Amino acid sequence: RNLKARPKDVAKFEPVRAGVIGAGLMGNGIAYCLARAGVAVTLVDVSEERLGKARDQLHRNGLKAVERGALSQAKLDQLMSLVGTTTDVASLAGCDAVFEAVVEIESVKRDVISRAAAVLPANALIATNTSTLPISNLAGASSSPGNLIGMHFFAPVDRMPLLEVIRGPQTTDATLARALDVAKLMGKTPIIVRDGRGFFTSRVVASYTREALLLLSEGVPPQVVDNAALAAGMPIGPLAMADQTSLDLLYDILGSVAGPDRELDHHARSLEVLNRLSHRLGRPGRKASAGIYDYGSDGSRAVW
Ligand code: NAI
Repeated sequence: RNLKARPKDVAKFEPVRAGVIGAGLMGNGIAYCLARAGVAVTLVDVSEERLGKARDQLHRNGLKAVERGALSQAKLDQLMSLVGTTTDVASLAGCDAVFEAVVEIESVKRDVISRAAAVLPANALIATNTSTLPISNLAGASSSPGNLIGMHFFAPVDRMPLLEVIRGPQTTDATLARALDVAKLMGKTPIIVRDGRGFFTSRVVASYTREALLLLSEGVPPQVVDNAALAAGMPIGPLAMADQTSLDLLYDILGSVAGPDRELDHHARSLEVLNRLSHRLGRPGRKASAGIYDYGSDGSRAVW
């Protein structure tokens, strides 16, 4: 099978109404990009309080884009009018596409995927934003496993063009074509990869970040590590990127992509750095304004 191209003979997919389950960092960003492309979006989360915060965050992101000149005020008003919220997955019944972006816990993902699949039209696209869980593990949760595909976005979703599209063993050609059409609509650059733990990007990012964490644990200041990466042409240093991703999530990602034969000592040491910061010191990264760096109104300051 040619994994690189959009399957032919599948009609162009233009979603009119989409659902996004999980209104955190990623779900919010996905909803923003869909609404920016003119798609009506229903955001789902566990409480009205979280949904209220998500809408505020969405609006703040839009205002920043207006300030940067990336969006007009009129477009932002239109974008906000396209986003609705609910705590009830069953409200997604009329959607042609659903994006799952809840916490990285397999049982929670399986639960929301199965509840969404139960109410969606027969050919609706179901995309999961999992960073590590094989699509084949999640497909069984859906009554229509052929409609499930991995669409792995990167934070901040409105600014990062890369989209990793993961085809599971049961994903149909039509689903792959639809996912690529949505990627185009959202202005993303897709790469199509095979299914497996950590896919492509999480494995590569894990190795890159692990070495940076080892340097940190050996006493190299974080700015030195990050500045070296910037000088080498990377757009962001690995440690600033770790804070952006969240150290607790990275702990799970690094933990789950490790195989039994992969550099166990290095692995345990880098996990210990993440464990100490995110779990013992309560410094999980940018989301708490405290991680490897402290984030204040006057910029970031290394504290490690
Ligand atoms: P987050 O913690 O910011 O958001 C998760 C949201 O899911 C929360 O608002 C939570 O209330 C909600 N949620 C939990 N259980 C739910 C349920 N049963 N129904 C509806 N909503 C529920 O997490 P984040 O960072 O947005 O990650 C979400 C997913 O995206 C994870 O699978 C993660 O691995 C993946 N991801 C994260 C990236 C990152 O840079 N943070 C990058 C790429 C993927």
